[in-house]
Amino acid sequence: FVHQLNDESIGMQELLQSPLHLQPVPSQPLPPDLYGPLRRNSAGLDLAMPDLRAPLEQAAAQVTVPAVPEADPARIAEAVARSRTACPGWSRAPVEQRAGMLRRAADAMEERMAPLCALLVKEAAKTWGDCVAEVREAVDFLRYYAGEAERILQPVTLPGPTGESNTLRLTARGPWVCISPWNFPLAIFTGQVAAALATGNTVLAKPAEQTPAIALEAVKLLHAAGVPPDVLQLLHGPGETVGAALVADPRIAGVVFTGSTQVAKIIQRALAAKDGPIVPLIAETGGINAMLVDSTALPEQVADAVVQSAFRSAGQRCSALRLLCVHEAIADGVIAMIQGAARELVTGDPAQWATDVGPVIDDEAFEGLQKHLRRLHAEARPLLPPGEAAPASRLIPPQAFELSDIAEVKQEIFGPVLHVVRWRGDPLQVIEAINVLGYGLTLGIQTRIDSRSLALADSAHIGNVYVNRNMIGAVVGVQPFGGEGLSGTGPKAGGPHYLYRFCAEQTVTINT
Ligand code: NAD
Ligand code: ALA
Repeated sequence: FVHQLNDESIGMQELLQSPLHLQPVPSQPLPPDLYGPLRRNSAGLDLAMPDLRAPLEQAAAQVTVPAVPEADPARIAEAVARSRTACPGWSRAPVEQRAGMLRRAADAMEERMAPLCALLVKEAAKTWGDCVAEVREAVDFLRYYAGEAERILQPVTLPGPTGESNTLRLTARGPWVCISPWNFPLAIFTGQVAAALATGNTVLAKPAEQTPAIALEAVKLLHAAGVPPDVLQLLHGPGETVGAALVADPRIAGVVFTGSTQVAKIIQRALAAKDGPIVPLIAETGGINAMLVDSTALPEQVADAVVQSAFRSAGQRCSALRLLCVHEAIADGVIAMIQGAARELVTGDPAQWATDVGPVIDDEAFEGLQKHLRRLHAEARPLLPPGEAAPASRLIPPQAFELSDIAEVKQEIFGPVLHVVRWRGDPLQVIEAINVLGYGLTLGIQTRIDSRSLALADSAHIGNVYVNRNMIGAVVGVQPFGGEGLSGTGPKAGGPHYLYRFCAEQTVTINT
């Protein structure tokens, strides 16, 4: 054991002082079938929410996905004008009033859990477990930002010389463009909109073209909760036309964008190129997310965390694990256990209760992933059976490949595909190699040396670091979420500093 640690360049002194969690390291990996009891059906639905199954399946039988009309240029121009006109009234309303509306929308959303989940299954092809988690996250965003706005929008009196009063207050900026992706079509859509509304801004919301119907449902609930129609407007259509027209409009005051790094850069350039004020951009983008596993890690825990992080939601999470860096001393055992665990996963129709891995979002995504898989089959060592990819149903069973170098993973692969690399030597050098990739969204660390996990986290230019657990499913108000570098401009959704980014600040100095 000590020998293995020395192999990873940990000093003897550090080793002796480190509060090791001294569980015995299994000399052999557990047989794959021992993994069985750890298996969950997505969010553990069978165990945790038996009472939801009947209403969810009933709702699924009734749901239809409504058509949502696309916004044409005239509608976009008119919407921006209305948004500007509505802003002063909305921003001057007491924050408690706006917060009350968000809380009413949250209650309504919670009450409509079953039909919203049914729509998510149908429109976004998510599994039941993911749908329930997503509605809960949207509800959390509404309540959290309501409370946060009430907390931060109080004026602050600052000390100053006698005869002078100084007050600092946060004010609304104006119309915000909220552009969201399809992979969390309710939670991220609602989170962006709630943050902008809570802080007194008006909103022009542009959901992903793949998932407009669930966005429409969220907007209906917010309107029913009291948000005026001109304060929150939905503009559906392709990003290249509707999204781009909104971004280019000289009257907008801010853009919050969640999606690919490539589109974030297009938006950043478009904002910089237009005349008028400097418009703030909040960008929350993708990642090549890695997990570093050292030789002290518990293989069972690693296998569980890897399978959850890489394959849940069919790998279609920005936070998902793409690159497993495992110490060579335990690599064979860990890989064997992942192989066993992955065999347990059910790939199939998302509307089926037992399904763990549903389809990828559309034909374009399916084709892109197939192309990547063909390249990997030619250049890397497959670790999982290819299974049967099904173009008609867009199903891709979980896949894993061993590569020889971290640098071989060059871009975010948005699907159930894991890349595995073995390492030896200094784990800090592994973190350096991960930093060089340029993304900075999530990182997993698996070690039983506490001092090491903190040192590695310190060296990583990464927004969310998870130690000895999976690396997905950040909880609102608990794990503020967002990345740096190619992964975004840094603000943490669901965190205590997020709402400041939607505000301007004003200092009022009065000579009394
Ligand atoms: P995408 O970038 O293709 O699209 C995102 C949104 O941008 C959509 O609404 C789209 O219509 C719009 N858009 C496209 N081109 C535009 C343009 N020129 N101008 C304005 N808007 C435009 O991303 P996607 O495929 O919908 O989502 C998947 C991506 O989102 C992945 O890269 C994933 O990592 C990322 N993501 C990041 C986070 C995060 O919090 N960091 C969360 C979820 C998803
Ligand atoms: N916030 C989502 C997660 O952490 C993307 O998985």
